Amino acid sequence: MGPPGSGKGTQVKRLSERLGVTRMSTGDLFRSHQARGTELGLVARSYMEKGEYVPDEVTIGMVMEWIDAPEQSAGFVLDGFPRTLAQAEALDKGVAEAGGIDRVIYIRVARDELIRRLTGRLVCPKCQTPYHAVSAPPTVEGECDHCGEELYQREDDRPEVLGHRLKVYERETAPVIEYYRRSANLKEIDGEGTTEEVERALNVAA
Ligand code: AP5
Repeated sequence: MGPPGSGKGTQVKRLSERLGVTRMSTGDLFRSHQARGTELGLVARSYMEKGEYVPDEVTIGMVMEWIDAPEQSAGFVLDGFPRTLAQAEALDKGVAEAGGIDRVIYIRVARDELIRRLTGRLVCPKCQTPYHAVSAPPTVEGECDHCGEELYQREDDRPEVLGHRLKVYERETAPVIEYYRRSANLKEIDGEGTTEEVERALNVAA
């Protein structure tokens, strides 16, 4: 867990590869539905472009269906879910029989750094790898290192939407951090070092 731009997508990819388990980013899944023009994608777009959360009744069903698939039976890492108390309660209930959640990791980053990261972020439309124009540029300008696809700036990274996303995070998701702090399996890490420093801290916490 962590605010927009804290490095969840960057780190979850590395962590799931290290642990040899599957991963799911709700944001990436919504964007892939949008790219395929599904009904779910259309619904999600109407919220995401304004920096609002997609309603719980849509999001919870989508994630729980993914968790129930046989591919996830060996364990998995979630990026961007849960983000509301209703989502956290649904997740706890849904995985209770399988032993519950092992760990919740909260990546802490100050607001100024979040804004710096998100306003410079570029993303691959195919594999969703995030880059940064200054601190993590691709090898060839404007092209994904893995797919060669042309990188783009996410609509919700525009400055006029960004401030609202941070507000929604504080209103809806900060209480979820407190919820997991009370349930004693939350680990907090400093997300302001280099990507490698954050990865090392995350590996210790995980
Ligand atoms: P989502 O795509 O999950 O967006 P987010 O939570 O706002 O997070 P970001 O993807 O913006 O940031 P990140 O933390 O993954 O950082 P990243 O690694 O890319 O969700 C988008 C939208 O979908 C939501 O607003 C909502 O509408 C909807 N949605 C998603 N889940 C939902 C849910 N559960 N319920 C309801 N609605 C939901 O890194 C950011 C940048 O920083 C990159 O440029 C990267 O290269 C750079 N960077 C990363 N680490 C470092 C570092 N250590 N040092 C320097 N730069 C770094």
